[in-house]
Amino acid sequence: MNNLMRRAQNVQLWRKYCVKQYTTEAASAALSRGKPNYDEFIAGRQVQAQRSIVVQVSSEKSYSELYNYCSRFGSIVGAHHYCVRHDDDLHYILLEYSTAHEAAAAIDSGATNGDLSGVPVRSPFLWFKAAPGKRGPKLAPNNNNNIHHPPTSDLQSVDGTRQLDQEALLSQLRGAESIEQQVQLLHRHTQLNDLGVRMRFLAALQVQQAISGMFPAAQAHPFGSSVNGFGKMGCDLDLILRFDGETGGRKQSSGEPPSRLIYHTKENLSNGRSQTQRHMECFGDMLHLFLPGVCHVRRILQARVPIIKYHHEHLNLEVDLSMSNLSGFYMSELLYMFGEIDPRVRPLTFSIRRWAQACGLTNPSPGRWISNFSLTCLVMYFLQQLRQPILPTIGALVKAAEAKDVRVTEDGINCTFGRDLERVGFQSRNTSSLSELLLQFFEFYSQFDFHNRAISLNEGRQLSKPDHSAMYIVNPLEQLLNVSKNVSLEECERLRIEVRNAAWILESEVENSSLPQSERQEETWGLLNLFKHPEKAIIRPNMFFKPRMVEVSDLFEEKHQQLQSTIGPASTGGA
Ligand code: GTP
Ligand code: MG
Repeated sequence: MNNLMRRAQNVQLWRKYCVKQYTTEAASAALSRGKPNYDEFIAGRQVQAQRSIVVQVSSEKSYSELYNYCSRFGSIVGAHHYCVRHDDDLHYILLEYSTAHEAAAAIDSGATNGDLSGVPVRSPFLWFKAAPGKRGPKLAPNNNNNIHHPPTSDLQSVDGTRQLDQEALLSQLRGAESIEQQVQLLHRHTQLNDLGVRMRFLAALQVQQAISGMFPAAQAHPFGSSVNGFGKMGCDLDLILRFDGETGGRKQSSGEPPSRLIYHTKENLSNGRSQTQRHMECFGDMLHLFLPGVCHVRRILQARVPIIKYHHEHLNLEVDLSMSNLSGFYMSELLYMFGEIDPRVRPLTFSIRRWAQACGLTNPSPGRWISNFSLTCLVMYFLQQLRQPILPTIGALVKAAEAKDVRVTEDGINCTFGRDLERVGFQSRNTSSLSELLLQFFEFYSQFDFHNRAISLNEGRQLSKPDHSAMYIVNPLEQLLNVSKNVSLEECERLRIEVRNAAWILESEVENSSLPQSERQEETWGLLNLFKHPEKAIIRPNMFFKPRMVEVSDLFEEKHQQLQSTIGPASTGGA
């Protein structure tokens, strides 16, 4: 009984949260003002997605015809063009109307294509058919016989699906004036752009709208790197589907008493997990069979958090859909707040993630290597434990919580922490530059005792390791769990070697970068030397190499010996 009551109470809390989101039209305003808090950011983007449609066109040139045709449904306030590569380029234009009502009118006007088979589905993904009997860009008549011309040059031709061409990025980094600037440029050119975020919220809305007829309370919330400010172009979309929000169709005004007419529902199965798995299986089939754009659906239902993975071909996007990972959702909020606290946090993390990817420490598929999320936790902890911290501990955020910050997931995980950064009142006195911080990060983990110590972001300090995992990062929201439990001894050892290499390389790069640009010997300098392919990376002993170096795992013994034969014995090399 107690359990049931607690569950009901938690559902109420989540509902309160959702109601707040959906009545926050003001969030759009906060979004355009800049510096929105997480709730405002999410709600603002959700409202923006409700005002948008995506139309496949034959080419970018169709824009004025499309603009003219679609203006009959309302006022178009923004347009973005992007391509998805198949055998040919497929072109799409994302149109944003001034209201959700206008976008809905455009979607509702959609006809079914008689020539093709398939069950028609209402969705914001449409294609623009050539005007009857016409080939080429003739304008279709509209109701008012008025022709709407798009304001000149308002089609934004940013590609939300592709990363900046590798060569172009490298040449930007080569031409930078300092390592500091390289870190900033890398962040600016690889972070998820505005169109990328819009596309991800549209993918979420598509799922939600598709099932809203039968499940009026369904809400699909993006979380993870798509929304926490640490996402790069091309990152996957993590989506959580919930059914315990306020009913979607009808908004209850604040003074109105709750309805006395309650929907009949099917009784829950006793085992929550197997019920979630059954439901997900069913949603997986539905997405696979009916939702336009959704393909390559895979069900991974035995994982700790069961997920459905799919590819969205109109958005060129990988999606991970879960139904039971609310703590992951709130974790994204924590990371978002960390990114907002200090402008150095995100650029620094981007460089470290890029370095880890370049030397093969991270990998897009999960395994016994460190995940991007764990790596991000390492960066956050490093910034907390500095003599002059750049980030507060999570404990400090929890202390600043007010009643409105209380969040408890249905399985009882307490995700309460202060959301108001002004109230948290953290001010860093640390004035280190990004290049200094990057070097300090590598130095710090070169010396970190992974063997005996665990990392706690809650307390901002090291603890004794409670078990024999190779790497232990206390899960900030479920403190009995280890975020990096998957990391094997070999991978942890490899991380130790790579941070030492990076510290050694960066140290000489920092010295070099003080030379005027014209005197630099190498085209590839600074940050770029950290991103060289692992085969090119050199293992060099330096002041960070401790006697434990002899523990290098079997996996690397061979490589190590090979390299030693080319660079000489350990005692003769180094800084
Ligand atoms: P990329 O997908 O690699 O770009 O990064 P990501 O941050 O999206 O990581 P991932 O897709 O693996 O996880 C999505 C989100 O789930 C993360 O941002 C976290 O908010 C959350 N998450 C992942 N792993 C854990 C975990 O072990 N504990 C908690 N509390 N949250 C997690
Ligand atoms: Mg992700």
